[in-house]
Amino acid sequence: MTAQLSKKSEAWSARFNEPVSDLVKRYTASVFFDKRLAQVDIQGSLAHAEMLAHQNIISQQDHAEIQRGMAQIQEEIAAGKFEWLLDLEDVHLNIEKRLTELVGDAGKRLHTGRSRNDQVATDIRLYVRSEIDNIVGLLRDLRLALLDLAEKHADTILPGFTHMQVAQPITFGHHMLAYVEMFSRDAERMLDCRKRVNRLPLGAAALAGTTFPIDRERVARTLDFEDVCHNSLDAVSDRDFAIEFCAAAALIMTHVSRMSEELVIWMSPRVGFIDIADRFCTGSSIMPQKKNPDVPELARGKTGRVNGHLIALLTLMKGQPLAYNKDNQEDKEPLFDTVDTVVDTLRIFADMATGITVKPEAMRDAALQGYATATDLADYLVKKGLPFRDAHEAVAHAVRACVDRGCDLSDLTLEEMRVFSSLIEADIFEVLTLEGSVAARNHVGGTAPQQVRLAIARHRARLS
Ligand code: ARG
Repeated sequence: MTAQLSKKSEAWSARFNEPVSDLVKRYTASVFFDKRLAQVDIQGSLAHAEMLAHQNIISQQDHAEIQRGMAQIQEEIAAGKFEWLLDLEDVHLNIEKRLTELVGDAGKRLHTGRSRNDQVATDIRLYVRSEIDNIVGLLRDLRLALLDLAEKHADTILPGFTHMQVAQPITFGHHMLAYVEMFSRDAERMLDCRKRVNRLPLGAAALAGTTFPIDRERVARTLDFEDVCHNSLDAVSDRDFAIEFCAAAALIMTHVSRMSEELVIWMSPRVGFIDIADRFCTGSSIMPQKKNPDVPELARGKTGRVNGHLIALLTLMKGQPLAYNKDNQEDKEPLFDTVDTVVDTLRIFADMATGITVKPEAMRDAALQGYATATDLADYLVKKGLPFRDAHEAVAHAVRACVDRGCDLSDLTLEEMRVFSSLIEADIFEVLTLEGSVAARNHVGGTAPQQVRLAIARHRARLS
């Protein structure tokens, strides 16, 4: 019996009368993608083994053997010499099998009081936790790069748009700071999600807990978890923390995508507000004149796939009864691809931010068209005592006259302006300048260069 058991490769195969077909093996195996969890799997196993030894569930000798075997496995993996076998299904069984080859019975005792169900849930939490830390660092790098750009262009004026039509003049620094705010919230969201990721499933075993006298808090401390999961069924089955992570990741990509859209528009020769360094662009194989903003366009496109992964995980989870179901093995590829996409995108964007050349002249020219200071004229009249609605109407008449004549508000003489309101005096010309317009919005959250500089300082202080 024992001899026959050891001949079969699957850890669970003793109960079965026939082997699975090669197709089923390939269909059910996850090792070719979950081997990415090897490091965290070993980390979790070592913490579990340490606790088992401390609780006298395994001997100190076994613990030492497990440590020795795992150290060698880590070396083999690092050197690319570890042999991953499809026959062994997943990362957990591959490592356990190799451990047993290396250290014998001690390796077979590692799984005492544990199941792959709580093991994999622990692995994913360790993995997501460390990727959150990585992503928070990358969001910081990106914000620092955007702050540099904002500072350089705290005074550079461009038209602000609503409905893609010139609305009011703003500063480029202010525009960049809008994205800094978004990426700050993204970092906050990641760190908030981290609290719920950072709880230990181990000890839940297959679903109901274990009969061994385990010490879950001890394992939690070893692995730096803030707490243990307090219900074994929930611990092995829910992946809400991964869904939450993917939602936060989708929002990062959404912000990146909005920024990308603007970069693409700004770089269009029709607009010409910016140039992006050649290393982020490619040419056309047929049109020699083209320089295409491929990186922002791809980032915009990749946002779709990250959104898709979020929906995949939500859909994966929605119909599952308690507790663990094999469906959950499908959580990994969307999760891994989300991490890869967000990490690469953030790294590229932090670098690309240093390769953006702003063209202040083109921005200024655009701001001078489209009556961007019409609101300033209305505000001026209000300050002279006219109710805002009346001021709005007077300025609308003035704009219409300018449209008919094909000129700007500031091209009108004082006499011509006074036709629309006798409250207008010579000091109006200062108000109608682009510089006057942005400088006047001088309060927290406003576009004035002074506020931009204060906001940059606030962000820098927070990031230091
Ligand atoms: N590869 C599995 C997964 O990713 C590990 C857990 C398997 N548990 C089981 N009872 N078959 O979910």
